[in-house]
Order: sequence, then C-alpha cells, then structure tokens
Amino acid sequence: MMSPNQNGLSALSAIREAFGQADAYTEHAQVQRLVAERLAGRIALSVRAPDMLELGCGTGLLSAHLHRRWPLGSLLCSDLSAPMVQRCRTTLAPSSSERLHFAVLDGENPPFIGEQFDLIAASMVMQWFAQPCVALRRYHALLRPGGSIAMATLAPGTFHEWQSACQAAGVVHGLHRYPSASAWQAAWPSPADCVLEEEEITVQHASGLDFLRGLRAIGAHLPVPGYRPNSAGEMRRILRSLTGPHGVSVTYVVLYGIFNKKIR
Ligand SMILES: C[S@@+](CC[C@H](N)C(=O)[O-])C[C@H]1O[C@@H](n2cnc3c(N)ncnc32)[C@H](O)[C@@H]1O
Repeated sequence: MMSPNQNGLSALSAIREAFGQADAYTEHAQVQRLVAERLAGRIALSVRAPDMLELGCGTGLLSAHLHRRWPLGSLLCSDLSAPMVQRCRTTLAPSSSERLHFAVLDGENPPFIGEQFDLIAASMVMQWFAQPCVALRRYHALLRPGGSIAMATLAPGTFHEWQSACQAAGVVHGLHRYPSASAWQAAWPSPADCVLEEEEITVQHASGLDFLRGLRAIGAHLPVPGYRPNSAGEMRRILRSLTGPHGVSVTYVVLYGIFNKKIR
C-alpha cells in the first residue's frame, strides 16, 4: 500500500488522486453498491420535493436511488474528485433532469453559507475525513428543521482479518481508525434524534492480492497518513497469514446513521 505522504501529497490530495484514478470503480464496488441500497432504504423524508445534497457521490450508486425516489426534489451530487463527479454525471445522464446538479467540493467542509437542505447524504465517504464527527456536527447548521443526515460509513473492526495478519507477521498495520457508534451519537446536537445500526459484510477473495487489487481498483487502498509502505518481505508474510484454505475473507463493519434535526 502507498502512503499518502510518499509523493509529497497532502492526505486530501492523495485521496482525491486515488479516487480520480478509479476508472473501474462501479465494476468493483460490490460492497458499496449494497451499502448504498441499504442506506437509501433507511431514508424517510416528509417532503415530496426535498432539496438534497450528496457528499462523496462517487459514480452515483446512492445518487441514482435518491433521484429515483424523489424525482421532484433537487439533488446536488458532489465529490472531492472531479473525475468522480463526471462519472456520476454519466451515470445519471439518462434522466437529464434540470433538478440534478453537480459540484466538486470537499464534503468535510462544505462551502455553503445560508443555504439549507432537507437531506444530506454520504455513503461510504466519511471514513475518509480527518475529523468525521466534527463534520457531522457542522452539517446540523446546513439542515432545515425536520431534515436528516443519512450516512453509511466504516466502523471499528473493519478488516480485522488484515489487522490480525499484520500482528502475526510482526508488522504494524496501516488501517484507519473509525469512530464508534457512541462517538457518532455523542457528536449530534440532540443524541436522542439519531438511529444507528451496524452491519457486518464479509467478502471472500481468491487471494490476498485479489483483495488488495480490488481496493486499488476503487481508489480505497490508501493507508493512514504517514504509514511506511510495506517491504516485499513484510507483504509476503502478511499475505501468508491472511490466506486460509479457501482464500481470504475480509469483513466490512458498516455503520448506518440517520440523524434528524428537530422541527423546532
Ligand atoms: C468509497 S467511495 C464512495 C462513493 C459513493 N458514495 C458510493 O457509495 O459508491 C468514496 C468517495 O468519497 C469521495 N471523498 C473522499 N473524501 C472526500 C471529501 N473530503 N469530500 C468529498 N468527497 C470525498 C471520494 O472521492 C470517493 O468518490
């Protein structure tokens, strides 16, 4: 795995570049597709024509659900990566609705002043933020009373198989640290107004290399900033420990969060 700082790039630029290069994202994003569908199924809005903002839209896996369910609403699809926004535009192109809008922006610090939305959605995005819980709190001001944040993100325990394999190989792992459900709840101004649910999705790969190639194909291969890349010997030891008789299984722990803003 490549370290974000290896090429002198800031963590944000490294993320932007990695996802920008993910031309085959949609083809390899099976987990993300499933999660987007399950997140969409958890969203309930009381207005027929909501103003919706999606952060980190990627190629539009969640955007397509949002646009289909609320065709009268406006949807601003945004992402840090310009190529991702372009891919999303292509995904949604058949509908060519005037209610669809696109923007390249940093979802951790959305540049809106005085604008408010009925829904802010982010599927499998906030795990890339430097301070995700701070960002969540920031979104409260961008919601209309009665509006909701719909989030799916990675939670502690994700890729625990990789962590154990690194430990067995005597190598420090480069996995990201994710906030727990209780940290997310505590970050919301009215903790009683959120619903959090966790789901484990275990995926089987033919080999450890197959797993790593899949992560790279969707642009999600970056370890924590500052992580020293593994030597070839370290990688061999990790992959040996990771591999079982039937290949490699890895677990995504996904946290779905719906955060509601009080009507008054
Ligand atoms: C794993 S993909 C998920 C894409 C899409 N939401 C989906 O469910 O398929 C993560 C996306 O988040 C975007 N992203 C990462 N950091 C971001 C940030 N700070 N602001 C906006 N988008 C970001 C990436 O460019 C990428 O498109």
